[in-house]
Amino acid sequence: MNFIKVENYEQLSEQAAKIIADVVINKPDCVLGLATGSSPVGTYKKLIEWNNQGKVDFSKVMSINLDEYEGLDGEHDQSYRYFMNDNLFNHINIDKANTFVPNGKATDIDAECKAYDERIYDVGIDIQLLGIGLDGHIGFNEPDEFFTKETHKVVLDESTIVANARFFESIDDVPKTAITMGMGGIMSAKKVLLIANGQSKKDIIEKAFFGPITPKVPASILQLHNDVTVIFSEK
Ligand code: F6R
Repeated sequence: MNFIKVENYEQLSEQAAKIIADVVINKPDCVLGLATGSSPVGTYKKLIEWNNQGKVDFSKVMSINLDEYEGLDGEHDQSYRYFMNDNLFNHINIDKANTFVPNGKATDIDAECKAYDERIYDVGIDIQLLGIGLDGHIGFNEPDEFFTKETHKVVLDESTIVANARFFESIDDVPKTAITMGMGGIMSAKKVLLIANGQSKKDIIEKAFFGPITPKVPASILQLHNDVTVIFSEK
């Protein structure tokens, strides 16, 4: 594991964006596994800047996102599809037809999950960007008795609902279920890049990367991946 400690969020975003840009420059038709949440916003801003300056070209890139709330369609401003359009896709020269986010409005969730995995294994993710939840979740893989391999439907932990309530009008509006890429999809990525910032994430970073590998700390499975970079800033 490559553990990089930086001074602040700006440095974290710049370093993360550099790692992603390198992948895109070396393989213009690469597949990016992407995340939502507050952690990657700065990284996406840097990638937008470099794309607008003509330094990084996304025209042949495919993206596959980690997760989506169940019941929200892409027009809903709290859906992860909307977040990705708003924070990245609308501002770079990626072909939106090549961007994939689980369909939270799918009538057959099992079929949606199966098709999502088929795509992941068919194309292969070159680099998977991850944030980490305070309970150690990656994607929406919450602490459990076991690791789930496949893309699947999850019931969100109370702590995740509370953490995400800041984006909704009231906590009651936060969806209680979601679709997430499973650990198989995440671990199949050639490279994994996890970013985290803030004092509140210090403990979970310690547990996930320097503690025992356990499904009670889902991100700890990443210790078994052979190409993981963690960028952490206490600020
Ligand atoms: C988002 C995702 C989540 C977040 C995690 C951290 O697509 O999969 O696992 O990465 O909840 O969120 P932030 O970055 O908002 O602290």
